[in-house]
Amino acid sequence: MAQPPDKHPDFTADGAILVFDKLCKNYQLGAFELKVLQEIDLVIRKGDYLAVMGPSGSGKSTLLNIIGCLDRPTSGKYFLGGQDVSLLEDNDLSAIRGRHVGFVFQSFNLISQLNIIENIEIPMFYQGFSEHQSSARAQELAELVGLGDRTRHRPSELSGGQQQRVAIARALANDPLIVLADEPTGNLDSQSGKEILALLDNLCERGKTLIVITHDENIAHHAQRQIRLLDGRIEKEWYNR
Ligand SMILES: Nc1ncnc2c1ncn2[C@@H]1O[C@H](COP(=O)(O)OP(=O)(O)OP(=O)(O)O)[C@@H](O)[C@H]1O
Ligand SMILES: [Mg+2]
Repeated sequence: MAQPPDKHPDFTADGAILVFDKLCKNYQLGAFELKVLQEIDLVIRKGDYLAVMGPSGSGKSTLLNIIGCLDRPTSGKYFLGGQDVSLLEDNDLSAIRGRHVGFVFQSFNLISQLNIIENIEIPMFYQGFSEHQSSARAQELAELVGLGDRTRHRPSELSGGQQQRVAIARALANDPLIVLADEPTGNLDSQSGKEILALLDNLCERGKTLIVITHDENIAHHAQRQIRLLDGRIEKEWYNR
């Protein structure tokens, strides 16, 4: 019979919502084992805003996919919200993901046939919110991201920056423990990018926990904390303030 998940002792003690303990990810390519993440130790506390930097191929997206429960580590432990999620089966992993993680992608990933409100409602649909609850919350979130007057529009009728705002509202729908963004301003012009960064700053001020992958030092400076990956290891870690 499956054992109940471990509780990580750090979780309640110091507000850690994410703990990596010697986390590794390997890919088997024929006889060759590619070591993509190597013995990563990381603790994220509520309200942290972390930027993940590093050259192409250093393991940033792999790290984010594991944090977001889209993928599993090969070895080591991952505790999210105090629960050991390193060994969960697909169904349990996707339930945790739906409940605790909000994703923002470089290419927005909105559903083109749905309007703004309907896009924001999607994660709530899977969590069993009533129609009334989810449409009220989606309206509030649309207002939070400055699109309260555009709710019946389709994504194609919005600018890139506005579409990314919708994606951020959608990521917040289930009040996740953690919001993950992989190059969230990568497809935007610089003014729209600044507006998205201001929105992320605002979420941080509201106590949201954010992890953002970026190649851009200026973007990373918005975070309180930065790590730099090199060949799957944390090469450097520092606080901006
Ligand atoms: N499914 C997979 N199978 C085999 N190798 C993979 C797989 N996914 C990623 N890799 C390899 O893992 C390494 C890290 O990839 P990852 O996508 O995490 O890098 P990244 O830091 O996000 O790079 P970029 O800045 O280009 O997005 C790369 O060498 C990549 O080829
Ligand atoms: Mg990547």
